[in-house]
Amino acid sequence: MSKANWIDWLSTGVLGGAAAIAMLLGFGTGGAAGASLRARGDYLVHIMDCTGCHTPGTLSGKPDLAAFLSGSDIGFRLPGGIFFPSNLTPDPRTGIGGWSRAEIARALRTGRIPGGRELAPIMPWRSFAHLTPRDALAIATYLKSLPPIRHAVPGPQPPSAAARLPAMTLVLPGRRP
Ligand code: HEC
Repeated sequence: MSKANWIDWLSTGVLGGAAAIAMLLGFGTGGAAGASLRARGDYLVHIMDCTGCHTPGTLSGKPDLAAFLSGSDIGFRLPGGIFFPSNLTPDPRTGIGGWSRAEIARALRTGRIPGGRELAPIMPWRSFAHLTPRDALAIATYLKSLPPIRHAVPGPQPPSAAARLPAMTLVLPGRRP
């Protein structure tokens, strides 16, 4: 190997190594790499329509963007119960502030939340299961960076609660609600 080739090879190796380390650092939240992970999450959250369900007012046609992603006051009534799109801001009491980024990413890719419950299928996690691990982490990084908003949303409710809670009812053709 000539000296010039050798230097070439060495610098490619060193630069390649540095790029790999930068990529790994991208999995942290700090620095430029963390910022680009957050930017990727911002992009994904917007094109994947999380706000369509998780921002209050959207389901009734008046999204309250000042309360972005803080959960819906209208639930979805399905055969298995009534499910309210949760508060996705990092509020520790009413949102997902107590979840790690890995736990959020796992919920998106497997539908399993801390405690082991499987999310109702109206939350499109079966589609989100196709996210790459890095994109799921990018979404989690973005959600963790949102301002925490205190907004309590009911957890899963039995179908019998329909009389007292506002919920959209999805009815199969030929069936009664
Ligand atoms: C079609 C409506 C809909 C869309 C779109 C949607 N979600 Fe959801 N999501 C829900 C509902 C309803 C629940 C509650 C389900 C349950 O409790 O079983 C939920 C639950 C969750 C949870 C669990 C939170 C908790 O406290 O248990 C997370 C995390 C989540 N969604 C993230 C997202 C993200 C991120 C997006 C966009 C990439 C998104 N969702 C898009 C309806 C939706």
